[in-house]
Amino acid sequence: MGSIAVEEPKFVDLTHHLAPEVLVRKTNPLKDIIRISLENPHLVSLANGDPHHSLYPIRRVNYEVASVADEDPVSTWRSLGASAPTETLTAPQDTLHKASLAYGHGAGLADALRTVTELNVAYHHAPHHVATMTLGNADAITKVFRILGAHGDHFLADEFTFGPMPIAAEAHGVKWVPVRIDAGGIIPEELEKVLAHWDYKRGKRPHVLYTVPCGQNPTGSTLSLERRNQIYDIAKKYDLIIVEDDPYYFLQYDPPNTEAPSTQKPFPLSFLSLDVDGRVVRIDSFSKIMAPGLRLGWITSQPAFQAHLIRYIDLSTQHPSGFPQALVTLLLEGWGLAGFDRWVRSLRLDYQRRRDFLLGLFEREVARTGLASVDVPEAGMFLWIRVHIEKHPRFRRVEHAPEEKGMRGPQTNARQLMQELFEACLKGGLVIVPATVFLLPTEEGYEEAGAVHIDDRSNFLRATFAGSEETMAAGMPILGKVLREFFADAPKKPEDAPST
Ligand SMILES: Cc1ncc(COP(=O)(O)O)c(C=O)c1O
Repeated sequence: MGSIAVEEPKFVDLTHHLAPEVLVRKTNPLKDIIRISLENPHLVSLANGDPHHSLYPIRRVNYEVASVADEDPVSTWRSLGASAPTETLTAPQDTLHKASLAYGHGAGLADALRTVTELNVAYHHAPHHVATMTLGNADAITKVFRILGAHGDHFLADEFTFGPMPIAAEAHGVKWVPVRIDAGGIIPEELEKVLAHWDYKRGKRPHVLYTVPCGQNPTGSTLSLERRNQIYDIAKKYDLIIVEDDPYYFLQYDPPNTEAPSTQKPFPLSFLSLDVDGRVVRIDSFSKIMAPGLRLGWITSQPAFQAHLIRYIDLSTQHPSGFPQALVTLLLEGWGLAGFDRWVRSLRLDYQRRRDFLLGLFEREVARTGLASVDVPEAGMFLWIRVHIEKHPRFRRVEHAPEEKGMRGPQTNARQLMQELFEACLKGGLVIVPATVFLLPTEEGYEEAGAVHIDDRSNFLRATFAGSEETMAAGMPILGKVLREFFADAPKKPEDAPST
């Protein structure tokens, strides 16, 4: 009844990173038996509790999908609308009934796994890591955090991050430690500083780094290859697991106003591509390149981690629904790798146009106020708008008595003003997300002495360029107007008053 795969000796043994709960989690005994029949179809099985497949009230599923025959298929798809060329992919009844719609293996359908493994090999040159299908990145990350994080463990993450994931891990006792980021993502020297100066009175040194390397949500930053190499070296030195959450990998752009945007620009090397030790757990999703409602993605890890993930899956969600797994398999088979590549490159051009459209509006409606600015995102779906809050007439420094243990609070009222600005945007008819929503939840008082407090650096708003041009065209003028009014309509500081 061996359910734990035997790891090939390709990678370093990193099982000491597993949470104690993982080591006591029993296997699902029924799944152990069912797996025997799944893996040995010649055996007579009276084991499974599957309803008989002839009783599934579904004969065939046809998916009508975009054709990827031309060079820029997304543009054709969008511009021709209902008359755009399509291909019809049919899930054969046998596959549908015997695999996709039946109970299956916790790792996912064999065909879907083959498909995503092809993507891993083609884009990340990672033939020895193994794939596990998931219900998208949110599901994947919470599961990975669960198998790596024990109560009281410390994990590292970008100081502004995709908040729901750390919050999920907090609930089972993981404590978060922020790493300083800039427009280029995590600053490797800052990461090393946290690890090298770790105060063991706080507990064990952090052993997991959660990061979004491309088009980071919310800041839009993308790690350069140089930084990725540095971070991987730090991970080796301090024995970290890197959880690489990369839903925007395929959405990477040329600089604005590039004469002839290149569909052929290579995709950068991921952490997975650099992973000789097996210390990267990569998380991919079909949400941003197909559709989020598919709820489908995959985890790529060394086999020892996969074995424990599957145990967890077998005792919780089970494998993802068969429909999206079948669709993605058919799509990748129908389009082929070359067709998939054309689709994602063409998608990248589409989002690049949207980014440039929003940047143009931002320039015209907001930047001209002199009250906000942006760095151009190289990837993803977001503009991270820096509000020059220090120009606000009520901006002020606050005096603080030094707090205990050399920690200190915010030095300005930036956070309060940003909250007021957010409310003014809402009143003006614009929903935009303030930076505070993305603050990594950290232990009370965790601020490095001498560093600028995070509240004093939370003067940002996140705006998406994934929506329609109409929405963007409506939103930026509101932001410009609200900013002008917000910065004007306030009692002036006494020192700003004209002298008489
Ligand atoms: C950084 C990041 N991780 C994970 C997710 C969740 O993705 P999924 O739809 O695959 O669960 C998102 C979605 O916006 C995201 O931006």
